[in-house]
Amino acid sequence: MITTTSLTKTYSSGAKAVHALNGIDLDIGMGMFGLLGPNGAGKTTLMRILAGIVNASGGSVHIAGHDVTTEAGKQAVKAMLGYLPQELGMYPELTAAQFVDYMAILKGLDDAKKRRQSVAKVLELVGLSEAAGRKIKGFSGGMKRRVGIAQALVNDPKLLIVDEPTAGLDPEERIRFRNLLVNLASDRTVLLSTHIVEDIGQTCRDVAVLARGQVLFRGSPTELTQAAAGHVWTLTAAGLEKPNHGLTIVSMLHLAEGTQYRLVGETADGHPAAQAVPPGLEDGYVWLMKSAGQSVEAL
Ligand SMILES: Nc1ncnc2c1ncn2[C@@H]1O[C@H](COP(=O)(O)OP(=O)(O)O)[C@@H](O)[C@H]1O
Ligand SMILES: [Mg+2]
Repeated sequence: MITTTSLTKTYSSGAKAVHALNGIDLDIGMGMFGLLGPNGAGKTTLMRILAGIVNASGGSVHIAGHDVTTEAGKQAVKAMLGYLPQELGMYPELTAAQFVDYMAILKGLDDAKKRRQSVAKVLELVGLSEAAGRKIKGFSGGMKRRVGIAQALVNDPKLLIVDEPTAGLDPEERIRFRNLLVNLASDRTVLLSTHIVEDIGQTCRDVAVLARGQVLFRGSPTELTQAAAGHVWTLTAAGLEKPNHGLTIVSMLHLAEGTQYRLVGETADGHPAAQAVPPGLEDGYVWLMKSAGQSVEAL
């Protein structure tokens, strides 16, 4: 569905150049694809290029065979694309139905009758039929995000791009929202970006990890987990001194006998009491970042 080759993007902000993307090679097929990376990795930039909102500085992007660097290609892709930006401005005084209808008009759905049907259909799809006539200003974060998805779906896109849609949602809303995306991915491509590792574990068949505008990893969540095999330990320490010797603390748990640390690193030779444990997805991510010299504190 999507192929990028040596994709680069440089922003000139003042006198300084910001290299947001430094040669992205990616192949993205049908189903749900996760784009995972810390803040500033380049996720939004990549998505905006795919959506035809900003131009790449170099390299190529093809979506369903269309070259997005050409005007004709951009137009062809727009017709098959739904995009939920990281910050979607909504009009709080409009009802959900009015807002989605307004977005549908902007997308060129001119036939009023067909448009009404599409609006009702997408609001049903996201579970907002009941709330369709209510003003957006009274909605929860999760409901607003579902309005955002509804507007992205109103032209029945084959490609849905959603930028950090789970940020700021409470755990229950996040799970609901993730399940909605999984359902939507059954017959289209859904590209989801997130800085939250859990978001991709249960939901994405494939994932790319981005940092500093480069792809550090491309594979399944299971493969990402396995990348940390042999590099994860737990260690319970009674004192206040934190484990170090080049290890990164992934998590800690205060127990009666002391603090239990979960550690990721090259070797635990410096801590003879450390117990090797099987890796989890978050360990895989931390190990990958650490191996790439990316500060994990920035996560
Ligand atoms: N319009 C812009 N002008 C200048 N720099 C930008 C602009 N947008 C993003 N950047 C920079 O590009 C890098 C990647 O940003 P972004 O794509 O937003 O990453 P992410 O979505 O992964 O947080 C960051 O260093 C960011 O500060
Ligand atoms: Mg972003």
